[in-house]
Amino acid sequence: MTTADNVSSIAILGAGQMGGGIAQVAAVAGIDAVCFDMHQTSLDKTKALHEKLMARAVEKGRMEQGDADAALARISYTTDWDAMGGAGWVVEAAAEKEALKHELFTRLAETFDDESVVLATNTSSISSTRIAAAAERARAGAGERVIGMHFFNPVPVMKLVEVIKGLATSDEVTQRTIDLSVRMGKEPHAANDRAGFVSNRVLMPMINEAFYAWMEGVAEPEDLDAIMTKGMAHPMGPLRLADFIGLDTCAMIMDVLADGLNDDRYRACPLLKQRVDAGRLGNKTGRGVFDYSK
Ligand code: CAA
Repeated sequence: MTTADNVSSIAILGAGQMGGGIAQVAAVAGIDAVCFDMHQTSLDKTKALHEKLMARAVEKGRMEQGDADAALARISYTTDWDAMGGAGWVVEAAAEKEALKHELFTRLAETFDDESVVLATNTSSISSTRIAAAAERARAGAGERVIGMHFFNPVPVMKLVEVIKGLATSDEVTQRTIDLSVRMGKEPHAANDRAGFVSNRVLMPMINEAFYAWMEGVAEPEDLDAIMTKGMAHPMGPLRLADFIGLDTCAMIMDVLADGLNDDRYRACPLLKQRVDAGRLGNKTGRGVFDYSK
């Protein structure tokens, strides 16, 4: 039986900013990380970022060179789905799209027949119960090992893991997820499986409201953000934070809230949607609310 204490290898699906960060904290905690992505360019970008962040940790005296080298050597990057097969734990960190997550968990349940392998999802708002049901349909019993393990960006810096037990998730899997989060240097807190859980039920409407305030001419983005950073001691204003998270992700989370809570007040602001339509997704595309091209 694999327990959180003896997990030696984690497969991470999706090498974006979240998946890359999860791989990094796993490797630093002494766990092999297999980063899977369909796109080689994403893997290359993530690998370069890992090297840069580790070099910075050494430069800042937070890590010894030997430990940084060992952590980097624990991370492998692959476009081959089967290369994940030997992992003792899976964290899915693909886009916040329900159909995609269902498809991935169907395939994960088929691939990982070992009942001790936890199939975690870094869902930001989508029901872990419904994701588990997709796994259960593919393999009887697999739903018990599906759980929400929600990390925060930037993963190496943010302490929280929001743990979301689905209806079918076993208590043992929940406890192991809490234990593994602690082993990865995180502080786990439980939330129930309702749209957006706690984090995005509270955070995303604030971000969305900032877009409405901007749209209605209450303030320009710079002033709006400055009021929230200086007055509320937020590390970033809501519009800059939206760029940091990704405007597409913000819009998708609002859609999950509007749908799951069946309330119009969660409707994504047209200004947010317009930027997504234009492909101005924030930091990752060089432009969102603010311009990062320079
Ligand atoms: N990866 C690793 N480390 C990073 C990093 C990254 N992507 N970005 C910044 N850091 C580190 C830096 O290396 C730096 O440490 P050192 O100086 O010791 O090297 C430290 O964080 C502080 O960075 P900076 O000095 O560059 O900048 P800062 O003081 O403004 O902090 C920040 C940057 C940590 C991102 C800070 O602005 C912050 O906390 N912002 C809010 C982030 C937040 O709210 N995240 C949650 C988003 S919601 C989410 O993720 C979930 C969801 O479902 C949408």
